[in-house]
Amino acid sequence: MHAIEVERGGSRPVLRERARPEPGAGEALVRTLRVGVDGTDREVIAGGYGDFPSGEDSLVLGHEAVGVVEDAGETRLSPGDVVVPTVRRPPNGPSEYFERGEPDMAPEGDYHERGISGQHGFMAEYFTSPEAFLVRIPEALADVGFLVEPVSVAEKALELAAASRSSFSWKPESALVLGNGSLGLLALALLSASEDYDRLYCLGRRDRPDPTIDVIERLGATYVDSRETPVPDVASACEPMDLVFEATGYAKHAFETIEALAPNGVGALLGVPEPWTFEIDGGALHREFVLHNKALLGSVNSNVRHFEAARESLASLPDWLLDDLVTGVYDVESFEAAFGDDDTTIKTAVQFSAYEERR
Ligand code: NAP
Ligand code: BGC
Ligand code: ZN
Repeated sequence: MHAIEVERGGSRPVLRERARPEPGAGEALVRTLRVGVDGTDREVIAGGYGDFPSGEDSLVLGHEAVGVVEDAGETRLSPGDVVVPTVRRPPNGPSEYFERGEPDMAPEGDYHERGISGQHGFMAEYFTSPEAFLVRIPEALADVGFLVEPVSVAEKALELAAASRSSFSWKPESALVLGNGSLGLLALALLSASEDYDRLYCLGRRDRPDPTIDVIERLGATYVDSRETPVPDVASACEPMDLVFEATGYAKHAFETIEALAPNGVGALLGVPEPWTFEIDGGALHREFVLHNKALLGSVNSNVRHFEAARESLASLPDWLLDDLVTGVYDVESFEAAFGDDDTTIKTAVQFSAYEERR
């Protein structure tokens, strides 16, 4: 079968032939429909993040997948079920985090991530997975099911942020998303659908005309250009934010978020930057945190519960939004186009097979 991989020392994805995997006990064989591409995939390909499976020199890419059960084996799934796989797997033997259904909270070393670190991903014609890591989705979502994983990541971060403000009456009105990549725009879409927020903002560094600015404004949010209004100026130029959702991976934003927050506000950091040394006024930021009850948290990955929430959210997002966000779906023959990253690209996917509805 065809598989899209990155090789040790390589800096581009390549198409390889691999044997179709055999499902083990408790596993289903899934025929892959589509697999999305995100900033993490680009970081893995560039060699700045992730790991090869032990003893191997090549990694099958892809962690945002949707497929159809081909062989349900001994699982409670049925052939034809449309499923989305979660990303994390226990590295060796049992793990308390996985047993609790909270693999997203496991520390480094206690998990592999399919397509990212230690285990092959889903960018192949077939993949196998234990039933516990497959989330069923409605047939109607088969085409956009590869968005369930990134939406689940946003769901988890928003849940953590709200939980950190749950000991008092937190009534957020304003939110700022840092980053107009696919994760940032999906988070903005969730915030816009939630009705909790009266005013939304999204920060980027693009000139108009730009498709991401169009999406931001169609969602009713205000576009903030970081070249004119850097994050430390947002509170005075726009307004102090009750919530900041960071999805740029730009390390200074982690600290500048503290200045953008309103008293009692919370910032959720999701970007994964490279190491970078720079100066900050630690005293001023520490003081700002304490005297205004601000919170900053990191959030990574997501669990089955967040995938289920994402499935519901995705079903309620308007068609125009999904049409505008998904700027390209490419057959395996032209897979390289899915990894392009110019300003006309928002979200792309590779299609391994077409979905045919059950009768
Ligand atoms: P992406 O497509 O690369 O998006 C990043 C966006 O941030 C781009 O649109 C980029 O703008 C913008 N940006 C970067 N620096 C900026 C700055 N200084 N000012 C304004 N805008 C800036 O990546 P993604 O897939 O959306 O993911 C976003 C980040 O989250 C990445 O770091 C990724 O690794 C991370 N991530 C984390 C999780 C998690 O579980 N925590 C999950 C998925 C992704 P331009 O395009 O104009 O350069
Ligand atoms: C994936 C997450 C993963 C994170 C860190 C993200 O792109 O969507 O599932 O935990 O990268 O590797
Ligand atoms: Zn991802």
